[in-house]
Amino acid sequence: MKSSSKVVLFKPLMALSAIAAGLGLAYWAPGEASSRATRTDAQGPYLQATSDTSTSILYRPADDRSYQLQYRTGEASWLEARLQATASTLKIQLNNLKPDTTYTYRLVAGDNRGNSEFQFKTAPAPGSSANIKVAVFGDSGSGDSHQIAVAKRMQDWQPNILLHLGDIVYPNGEEVLYEERFFKPYAALLSSTTIFPTLGNHDLPNIHAYTSIFAVPFQQSGSPSPRFYSFNFGSAHFVALDSNLGLSANSEQLIWLQQDLKQRNLALYPWTIVYMHHPLRSTTREPEMAWRSEALNLFESAGVDLVLAGHDHAYQRFIAPEAGKLPSPIFIVSGGGGKKLYPQQISDPQLAVYQQSFHFVGLVLNRHQLSLEAIDEQGKTFDTYRIEKSAAVN
Ligand SMILES: [Fe+2]
Repeated sequence: MKSSSKVVLFKPLMALSAIAAGLGLAYWAPGEASSRATRTDAQGPYLQATSDTSTSILYRPADDRSYQLQYRTGEASWLEARLQATASTLKIQLNNLKPDTTYTYRLVAGDNRGNSEFQFKTAPAPGSSANIKVAVFGDSGSGDSHQIAVAKRMQDWQPNILLHLGDIVYPNGEEVLYEERFFKPYAALLSSTTIFPTLGNHDLPNIHAYTSIFAVPFQQSGSPSPRFYSFNFGSAHFVALDSNLGLSANSEQLIWLQQDLKQRNLALYPWTIVYMHHPLRSTTREPEMAWRSEALNLFESAGVDLVLAGHDHAYQRFIAPEAGKLPSPIFIVSGGGGKKLYPQQISDPQLAVYQQSFHFVGLVLNRHQLSLEAIDEQGKTFDTYRIEKSAAVN
């Protein structure tokens, strides 16, 4: 079965250019921060914003050939869409997918049918009790052997999705360095799982590279900006914040966040996991953001279960304080994705673990239970923790 094919000319931030009737296909380029002339290798394919019924497949070609995407389930006939590679980033939106289903896809250039095949799996249906696996990492983009080692451990772990806690590419989020410090180390992961990023302070100087490369589901979550957004996956509601912007009173991000937390569907998604770059709690150095106590109060009163952050290059887990009347979130710092590590420098009686290791954090969660493990670059688990969701139904 073939879709109608169409040559699409891309402009920065141009909205959906074409929709192939009946197949739920759309083509779009999220931005054109640089020309392909600066690229020696193609980047991708990589997945973005995968949900239970949709995903985006992105590709950054290094040439001007026309591309065709083919995808299918099992041994069904290939569904096809043809693209003209005239943009910096090509995006193919697949809608009307089935939940919890594995799809095979391939990109074909010209008449070449020998290209690699990739697979991805959609999220479980809302309300499902299936386990999902979430790999969390941050501060990764050094390009050195530690980054590669952690990437391989994450690949071995086979996550459903990836959360990046910011500082994706050092030193300044340069688009030209994404090749060596993002696309190559994570190539196998990016083509089979979807990554949901946040902005670190080192990503800010070239924020146009970030917004050109990533197509986060901010519009679907009612956010006015790609810098903060939310999504549901498995039995969790995930909230990605931009801690560079902060949560000061009347800020756009705070107003959106309050609304987002209010609109959560806790019956379908009982867990709330917030993640951002700067930690609210750390013993590497004292967190200094002016909006810290407001954020702590908001997360506690909203019943946030887990707050994940990077920026300080180590692993830290804090226990929930007993004094609070409301259950407090568990705070995790995971800044060991590849950049030089930092020692502990201050004390906190609620710190349970401080480990100066390159690592990622693996979360396995279903409606009733969330298990966490911290895995180092050799593949060794050095911390585990489990939370029960007693209020969960079914
Ligand atoms: Fe940072």
